[in-house]
Amino acid sequence: MAGTDIDFATLPFGYMRTDANIRYYFRSGAWSAGELTGEETIPLHMAATCLHYGQEIFEGLKIFGRPDGRIQAFRIDANANRIQRSAAKLLMEPVPTAVFRDAVQRVVKANRRFVPPYGSGASLYVRPFEIGISAEVGVKPSPDYLFLVFVTPVGPYYKTGFTPVKLKVEEVIHRAAPGGVGDIKCGGNYAAGMRATIGAKHEGYGEVLYLDSREDRFIDESGSSNFFAIAGNTFITPKSDSILESITRMSVIRIAEDLGMKIEHRPIDVAEIAAFDEAGCLGTAAAITPVESITRAGKEHVYTRGGKAGPKVTALYKRLLAIQLGETDDPYGWTEIIE
Ligand code: PLP
Ligand code: COI
Repeated sequence: MAGTDIDFATLPFGYMRTDANIRYYFRSGAWSAGELTGEETIPLHMAATCLHYGQEIFEGLKIFGRPDGRIQAFRIDANANRIQRSAAKLLMEPVPTAVFRDAVQRVVKANRRFVPPYGSGASLYVRPFEIGISAEVGVKPSPDYLFLVFVTPVGPYYKTGFTPVKLKVEEVIHRAAPGGVGDIKCGGNYAAGMRATIGAKHEGYGEVLYLDSREDRFIDESGSSNFFAIAGNTFITPKSDSILESITRMSVIRIAEDLGMKIEHRPIDVAEIAAFDEAGCLGTAAAITPVESITRAGKEHVYTRGGKAGPKVTALYKRLLAIQLGETDDPYGWTEIIE
């Protein structure tokens, strides 16, 4: 198959048409076999539950080009598990792990020429999502579902890549409530946070940092990633039942332990931002993005010098990336080659 004339090194984090996406329908109690198509639009009933009652959940994972020219995925099973947990909370039909794996592998193979090569700094972003498609007007779960996976080559989520971003503590808006759905990956959470994120971007910040909505006191996460801080040799990250359980965070906690760091997974009082040595964001799109500063009530706390990430954040980033890119052995079994 022909290559592409894409300049992978300058790619933004955005949508680009590729050769195919893959679709599975759940109807009459069974999943279909999955069909690859080049069609970018979806035929959808105007009364579908996804449109009115928010039955929409999604995932994000990445495929990386290795130094040896092969390509590899990072933690497909962890994303499969999470979309099942998301489905359970919105009373949607869970996508079996075997279907999820089949979908990712088939759609990646069908778009092999869009996987950015090693060294480009880009990757192939895989976006699986599931929607309720049956026509309902009463508030109830759809009996039928569409599970679709598309891919698109992407550059860094924050324009600057591994360059520190500024965060602003969000003092008014909350993305998630206790007992709500902040711990799952549903579209509604992102709709709820858009005002905050876009407002902060207009003020020159990369993202907001949400506080818990019970007390406005503990750090939750940002709109598009989990949060961590470094104090001395300790990796500190929020414990909260209204944040997404980040697969990147799970991985980085393991890496930090193996690099000899102490881990604290606990509620973080926002007043502690004055005491951090370094800070970072964690996510599939964000990878590890260093935090330059956190501004709260007009006061900026700075964690970097000369626009450069601190030593611990840099060490974690390098180790994570080396595994994701296949530069080094993966002792954790997180990566798998897609032949
Ligand atoms: N938190 C939110 C709100 C996110 O959108 C994401 C992105 O997926 C994350 C955290 C990070 O999760 P993961 O590392 O699994 O991508
Ligand atoms: C991801 O990191 O995969 C996400 O879904 C974050 C999204 C806001 C781009």
